[in-house]
Amino acid sequence: MSTHLVGPMLLVTILFSIAPQELLARNLVCTAKPEAFWQHEPETWCLIEDIDLEESSEDINFPEQTKIHLRNFNVSYLSPTLLFKMKSVQHLTVEFCTMTKLFMKPTLSSMEIKNSNIMEVIIDKDSNYELLNFSLEGIYRKTFPNNFIRLTHLEELSIRHNDLPKFNMRQLDGLGNLKVFDLSYDSVEQLIIPDALNLPNLKELYLAENKLQKLPTNLRRLKALETLNLHSNQIAFLEMSHFNGLNHLKKLVLSGNRLQISTLEPVHLPHLEKLELIGCGLKELDMLYWKLPALRYFNVFENSLVSIMNFPESFTKELVFVPVGNRWSCQTLEAISSKVTIKVKERDHYCEHKVTDICCNGGSIDFNLVDTLDRKVQLLKFQNSILYEKLSETNGKLEKVIGVVDQRIVKK
Ligand SMILES: *[C@@H]1O[C@H](CO)[C@@H](O)[C@H](O)[C@H]1NC(C)=O
Ligand SMILES: *[C@@H]1O[C@H](CO)[C@@H](O)[C@H](O)[C@H]1NC(C)=O
Repeated sequence: MSTHLVGPMLLVTILFSIAPQELLARNLVCTAKPEAFWQHEPETWCLIEDIDLEESSEDINFPEQTKIHLRNFNVSYLSPTLLFKMKSVQHLTVEFCTMTKLFMKPTLSSMEIKNSNIMEVIIDKDSNYELLNFSLEGIYRKTFPNNFIRLTHLEELSIRHNDLPKFNMRQLDGLGNLKVFDLSYDSVEQLIIPDALNLPNLKELYLAENKLQKLPTNLRRLKALETLNLHSNQIAFLEMSHFNGLNHLKKLVLSGNRLQISTLEPVHLPHLEKLELIGCGLKELDMLYWKLPALRYFNVFENSLVSIMNFPESFTKELVFVPVGNRWSCQTLEAISSKVTIKVKERDHYCEHKVTDICCNGGSIDFNLVDTLDRKVQLLKFQNSILYEKLSETNGKLEKVIGVVDQRIVKK
């Protein structure tokens, strides 16, 4: 190397080391043509992807955008400092990211975290959160946040596709604006609804694709409920009157549970409009004392029903009934179809007898008497267990009263 080059090279080195930080800052940009990008109105979103940030890289700039979607974006801590640099962001999505910690930015309207490996989601106790919608899907978590109650404005909470065998709704107690709670696909075996739970606006509860074996107790605490979805759980026995008290319930989905339904007490759901019992393996259904004055849609597609006992007199042509895929006796089907509107989605295959285009059996046959009797016995046992529970509850109360009386007598 000739000696006259050393001078200029030294100068360049010195210039770089005294350059202001801004000159060296890294400007992140929105991906121009994102592939496989799922967002509503994708053109309004800024996707920033395939970034691996150093622990201490604070000299970084985010584009001025209100909707930012981080994809395959790794940083050990998505810190308040980094988030502060997303000045205008209102809606933030984090997908396929690896982070140790993620701080919730208080000024966001919506936040979505999905399919990411995040150890800790920090919901700060001293911040005033404006968040309305929060979705946490598929988090390979170590610790799941349990302080949702700090998100005081929350209207929609979705925590689908996680692994939550036990969920206590106490974590949401007091969220006065919460309207929608989605806990589907979470392997929930136990959902606890505490005695004094305050969720005065909870209108939609989604519990589909879990492992519930019975209805959560205290369900009627959720007084404002309009939609309840229990699709594809493992509920085998159901006492229908346990829904009583849900006086605003409009839609009830019980499809995909291998069900036996009992009615020990009258069922009264004054606003129920839609009842779905698809693919429940029902062989019989007794609707004695079911009062569903607002029912307009009743679907029993794909069961094994031969008849429905005590089909309510109050049902009229205003009710759309979907009976396809059962083993109806023609007599029953005839009686039902004269009362309500039958909806035939697809024509039944060739069969000897049909009523309103739906297959039925002419004679009164019982194709598997032993099995039917067996199920009847099981149902009776289930009903017995409910009666027993009621009895011991009453006994408990009685004992308390007697205790009080005894004490008074002793005092005297
Ligand atoms: C982010 O981390 C994940 C998991 O360690 C890795 O598979 C991925 O390649 C990383 N992404 C970048 C942009 O470095
Ligand atoms: C919240 O979600 C609802 C329905 O999913 C949507 O209509 C609403 O615009 C969302 N709000 C925000 C602030 O993203």
